[in-house]
Amino acid sequence: MTSRTRNSEMARPNVLLTRRWPDAVERRLAQSYEVSVNEHDLAMDRGALVEALRTHDAICPTVTDALGGDLLDEAGAGLRGRILGNFGVGVNHIDLDACRRLGLTVTNTPDVLTDATAEIALVLMLMAARRAGEGERHLRAGQWTGWRPTHMMGAQVTGKTLGLIGFGRIAQAVARKACHGLGMRILYFSRRAAPTDIEAECKSERVLVLDDLLARSDFVSLHCPGGADTHHLIDAGRLEAMKSSAFLINTARGSVVDEAALADALAKDRIAGAGLDVYECEPAVAPALIGLENVVLLPHLGSGALETRVAMGMRVADNLDAFFAGVEPPDRIA
Ligand code: DGY
Repeated sequence: MTSRTRNSEMARPNVLLTRRWPDAVERRLAQSYEVSVNEHDLAMDRGALVEALRTHDAICPTVTDALGGDLLDEAGAGLRGRILGNFGVGVNHIDLDACRRLGLTVTNTPDVLTDATAEIALVLMLMAARRAGEGERHLRAGQWTGWRPTHMMGAQVTGKTLGLIGFGRIAQAVARKACHGLGMRILYFSRRAAPTDIEAECKSERVLVLDDLLARSDFVSLHCPGGADTHHLIDAGRLEAMKSSAFLINTARGSVVDEAALADALAKDRIAGAGLDVYECEPAVAPALIGLENVVLLPHLGSGALETRVAMGMRVADNLDAFFAGVEPPDRIA
């Protein structure tokens, strides 16, 4: 190796991936960067994250890395990190104000996970309403005695009313699939009205009062960001406002739902069921929910399709490439 090569290699930015990423993305990153990977693939603790921020030019976190203001300020003294290339669209685990204060650029991965996450919302709606999880457990436990007209009757999804809370990219994709695939009527609650062409595409109706949307919907699906503004948006009172025959679906963030209140409402059949992909204290799930048959529980699978996860990683790589080339990263959010 010539000294010139050595110097240019030494100049390659060093990048830390806080979890394992799909092979194709790790290979691509290794072509341009000195990449360190958290081979154990367990969430890094606070000390390790502070150390990472002090020793790497780029840190690529995910939803499992809590990068709060305290941690970022602690790392701030000896900060080497210049960019956080988040693997995921939601960034409620990162204190963006602290990043701005420290001059840390932050990027995320919008668009590429929209359809995959919308699919999981539909999976949860269908599974919860048609008792698919419960039915599978029943069969695997050897309890199925055969077809009969009154066995495990659920609720049909086709033609029902779907109320969306938040109407961003993922909610709109759910609306399209639910409207055109399942003939559902679409209501949405959002701070801003959607452009009229988007509303028209699914004949969706904006409802201005959240409790009205809750009272009119057979399925309520959450698509708002996490964080302080939406913490426990769905609490005991809001669950009370839903129809007793309705289902609550959450593919957004666990913090949006008061899990204890939900478990209580499900146990008392205050609502018909729920489908959850996200939890307040992931990966811990409230034991009260685990014991219930009328809730479908998935392990945060929203974006978990191979092509989607590869696309998310490639999107992070695009952002890093732009940043280190001195160009504005396409998905910069701070
Ligand atoms: C997202 O992209 O926000 C997913 O929930 C994974 O973090």
